[in-house]
Amino acid sequence: MRPATRTRGSSNAVTNGVGVQAEDTRICVVMVGLPARGKSLIAQKVVRYLGWLSITAKCFNVGNYRRTATPQPNAAFFDTSNKEGERLRKAAAEAAVDDMCKWFRSPDNLIAILDATNSTKPRRRWIKERCDAEGIETIFVESKCDREDIILSNILEVKTTSPDYEGLDPEHAAKDFLERIKMYERVYETLDEDEADMTYCKIINVGSQVIINRIQDYLQSRVVYYLMNLHIKPRSIWISRHGESMYNLSGQIGGDANLSARGRKYAEELPTLVKRSAGDSPLTVWTSTLKRTAQTAQHLPYEKLAWKALDELDSGVCDGLTYAEIEEKYPRDFKARDEDKYNYRYLGGESYRDVVIRLEPIIMELERSENILIVTHQAVLRCIYAYFMGSTQEKSPWMEVPLHCLIRLTPRAYKTEEERLFADVPAVSTWREKGSKAAHQVQTLSISECAEMCTDIACAQDTPENSRRPSPSIAAQTKP
Ligand code: ADP
Ligand code: F6P
Ligand code: PEP
Repeated sequence: MRPATRTRGSSNAVTNGVGVQAEDTRICVVMVGLPARGKSLIAQKVVRYLGWLSITAKCFNVGNYRRTATPQPNAAFFDTSNKEGERLRKAAAEAAVDDMCKWFRSPDNLIAILDATNSTKPRRRWIKERCDAEGIETIFVESKCDREDIILSNILEVKTTSPDYEGLDPEHAAKDFLERIKMYERVYETLDEDEADMTYCKIINVGSQVIINRIQDYLQSRVVYYLMNLHIKPRSIWISRHGESMYNLSGQIGGDANLSARGRKYAEELPTLVKRSAGDSPLTVWTSTLKRTAQTAQHLPYEKLAWKALDELDSGVCDGLTYAEIEEKYPRDFKARDEDKYNYRYLGGESYRDVVIRLEPIIMELERSENILIVTHQAVLRCIYAYFMGSTQEKSPWMEVPLHCLIRLTPRAYKTEEERLFADVPAVSTWREKGSKAAHQVQTLSISECAEMCTDIACAQDTPENSRRPSPSIAAQTKP
């Protein structure tokens, strides 16, 4: 049954901008599992992934609701024979489900994640009934893990620093959390044939086995496919733009130009830069199919793979022009792009939104993979970066990402760490500020200016904190 408040036009269908026609589908992803099984982490990743695809999603964490009444419970609170504990936990779950149902009444809101242990069959049945009554589909996602090493390391990584134990001794916190898990184990019921009527996905030991039941539609299968690709092995993703190209020198966009002399120098230095960051770890290099990325990767001693999906944003009729020429020939387009850069699609070309759609298989493959180094282009790099860092659609197309800089992204629980390493090779800047008068007019640096800048960069690299130096360096690389 559909609430009357929900109207979406005559067809009652939503196109969310990624070409996904969600036939009025609203899905509640119900997390299931004992504590410290990665549920919250999975929930947050799903929200970030869907947000990147312009599918509005939100996580409702029952622990946060419980904390308003019981900020720092000890393990006994979770004992099911503790009547007051049971009452408060049920109240927290009800408040979260109520808020979720309200949230679903807005037509743009498509996927909610109900993040709690939901560890008993009656609790899951109750959630399903509440959702059924609101016309919300449910998909139960259970993370089941009996690997003690993983559970212990999860507790040490995230639980001892949880607000539940703020200000308390981490050793005491870890002990209490293990006790809490025991309380849950007494009543925990895994998803099984009794719930065969439900849609579910059981992820066993971090994806070494996955059981899926009654997956019904496109959005559900997309979420499940994403979940199946996640892993928790430590790894990094390195991203770099290609070395400076001849088009970069002349300020032209698009094309398939060769590297400039400085671009070739960057290609020669890249293996050392990578080695400094990655050590002897094995990695695979992904490039686009354009010459400038292959030339940049040519000296890297790793396996390489060229992806069409990594080619630069297609600038259509503007391909080969400078920003100044675009402003002169297509003034209205130039302005329109500044006003909504994420959605603006070049005549005969692409928008940032289009690039995100074609990058989805890349993201999926990245999730499956371990260490990867991607040599790609300005716009594509911004989109990949936005996925890992959760950047907004307003900000990501304007992000400064200098040439000759290697970015290392390391996913950790609940955040991605970033490190930037600059090569000792100057390059022009291709960045144009929003609203600026087509500023990408390049002026080559004099030898003394280059030398000055190289010293500047080399000094900055001496200290570890400076290897995270953000993009202002590009100001030094471009003459106004
Ligand atoms: P929960 O919400 O189940 O209590 P968290 O999400 O807070 O657990 O735990 C985060 C930790 O779980 C991270 O250290 C992460 O590496 C780990 N993790 C992520 N996915 C899984 C999984 N499928 N199984 C077990 N641990 C996982
Ligand atoms: O100038 C280099 C370049 O990679 C162009 O080929 C591309 O059109 C442009 O950057 C993308 O950046 P922006 O979206 O800021 O114009
Ligand atoms: C919690 O209180 O932290 C929690 C997740 O609640 P429940 O196990 O009741 O879902």
